[in-house]
Amino acid sequence: MLVAFNKAIDAKPHSSVYMMHKYFARRPWNVFTELISHYSSPGEIVLDPFCGGGVTVFESLKLKRKAIGVDINPLATYVTEMQSRSLDPQLFREALSNIYRRLGRDIESLYSTKCVRCGVKAVADWIEWDERSKRMIRIKYDCPECKSSQEKPPAQEDVRLAERIERNFTRSIGQRNLWFPKTRIPPGDKTNSLLSQNINYFFELFTKRNLLALAMLRKEIEGLKNGEARDFLEFAFSGSLKWASRHSHLRGQIVEGWAMHAYWIYPKSLEINVWNTFKRRAAAIVRGKSFSNQHIRNFCKFTDDFTDLAGDKATCLVLNRSSERLPFPDNSVDVVLTDPPYGGNVNYAELADYWFIWRSRGRTIEKEDEVIINKTQRKTLNDYERMLHSVFRECCRVLKPGRCLVSTFNSRDLRVVASFVTAVSKAGFTLHPDGLLYQKPIRAYTTTFHAMQIGAFVGDFIFTFVKEEALKSDSMKPAVELAEFKRDMAALVANAVQGGIAEPQVRELAYKKLIPFLGTHARTDLASCAEAVDFFEAKIKEQDLYFRDLRKRATETRRRRYAGTK
Ligand SMILES: C[S@@+](CC[C@H](N)C(=O)[O-])C[C@H]1O[C@@H](n2cnc3c(N)ncnc32)[C@H](O)[C@@H]1O
Ligand SMILES: [Zn+2]
Repeated sequence: MLVAFNKAIDAKPHSSVYMMHKYFARRPWNVFTELISHYSSPGEIVLDPFCGGGVTVFESLKLKRKAIGVDINPLATYVTEMQSRSLDPQLFREALSNIYRRLGRDIESLYSTKCVRCGVKAVADWIEWDERSKRMIRIKYDCPECKSSQEKPPAQEDVRLAERIERNFTRSIGQRNLWFPKTRIPPGDKTNSLLSQNINYFFELFTKRNLLALAMLRKEIEGLKNGEARDFLEFAFSGSLKWASRHSHLRGQIVEGWAMHAYWIYPKSLEINVWNTFKRRAAAIVRGKSFSNQHIRNFCKFTDDFTDLAGDKATCLVLNRSSERLPFPDNSVDVVLTDPPYGGNVNYAELADYWFIWRSRGRTIEKEDEVIINKTQRKTLNDYERMLHSVFRECCRVLKPGRCLVSTFNSRDLRVVASFVTAVSKAGFTLHPDGLLYQKPIRAYTTTFHAMQIGAFVGDFIFTFVKEEALKSDSMKPAVELAEFKRDMAALVANAVQGGIAEPQVRELAYKKLIPFLGTHARTDLASCAEAVDFFEAKIKEQDLYFRDLRKRATETRRRRYAGTK
């Protein structure tokens, strides 16, 4: 019988290929590398039906597997494709210097300032704003004369320059015949916070100066001859959007772009020089593409037809569509490796609209088939489970018999985990007897404020399911009965309270018992599954005061530590 992957791995930070462009919730690449190596052989086909930021696709290609990535979100498939495409860095650098020659000075002049030390003209790298009073707080610039980086309070000329650009904005856009998206922000679970602050258009997330600079840059890139250099300059432009808006801010000395899984403008925002941001993204692309050229250039051949992949004509297929229907034959894929949306944890489509509108002439993303829990989209836990199930049923159909579906998953809410396990089990998969592993998070992420606020573990479980009616019965652990399971859970929670253990750790321990329970009962006895979940959540709730107190103390300690890094 097939051996389940069972190694604890220290997650490594993103490699340069993933630093080119943001996507939400990318998983650690080295964990995926290990999983791909364990569950497949070179030349085999790996499918990710929720490919997101493209980790499965890129790492599969690196390991000489053929890769299929499907995602309903056009930003996801765009990023996945660009990560795997090759680029001649020399061609790219030349195109970049051409743009600088034609436009760089113009854009830089929008951020012109004076060095306080020697009085020469300098260019601001960022300007810090007080969002409430709409006043400039300070300016950071690099002086060409003293060759150093300085900060200063704004002078009158700095304030006047910003005011002048703002006043003349409409005229400048008209005279230069520029375009930027005028898209209204649609209502959504994540966008409602903007609408309630009376921010109704995406362009309002930018200062007028940055919007003008972006529009100038976009027009210049659009005017270039078709080809890979232009495509990657567009990619650098899109990557710049993370940094160019009022989402940017300082964390201590560190300049951060949009870092949350929410639209969130800090009380003090940064207006980052668009040209500098673009240059940094272009440099990130050179690094990322040198890396991908080295690892997959000769191997990655794109196609949009599965037959090419099954034969030897191609190695990579990326599709922008819902995985509820997959255009592949039965029993044709060797392994499914994926990371589905975790309930309503991240609202991918709502957030990705911010980027997508720049490439779609203002059109927002079609959200109807997105698998998610979302009030605005009227998708409940039941809808989520139903849609997730459709995707996994397709995965089961296209997967070869006896092969594995490997998925990371986690949620603070056990009902969401139960939905996931039920959706997979009902689709025709069996949880491997050793198919549950807890994976610690990338350390850097656990210090972000977002991770702190989740208040539960931020690592993932790795599930291994097998496409087999039932694994050989002698290899199965005997099914635990509901009554026994309840006794276990009650004891676990009671011991936790006595031993001073916090909720995330209790959940981690409990899930390790609960998930196999759900896995064995999901297809035959859904009522017991629901009862088990409700029982556990009720036990946790009974101790609400205790857990809340521990959480408060932990958050305080972390907040102090976080403030210490400022
Ligand atoms: C957690 S992300 C994947 C992250 C990815 N594993 C990575 O490492 O970057 C989940 C993805 O599922 C996608 N998704 C949601 N509904 C979908 C559907 N019906 N078909 C295909 N993809 C879908 C979302 O757009 C999102 O990109
Ligand atoms: Zn100077």
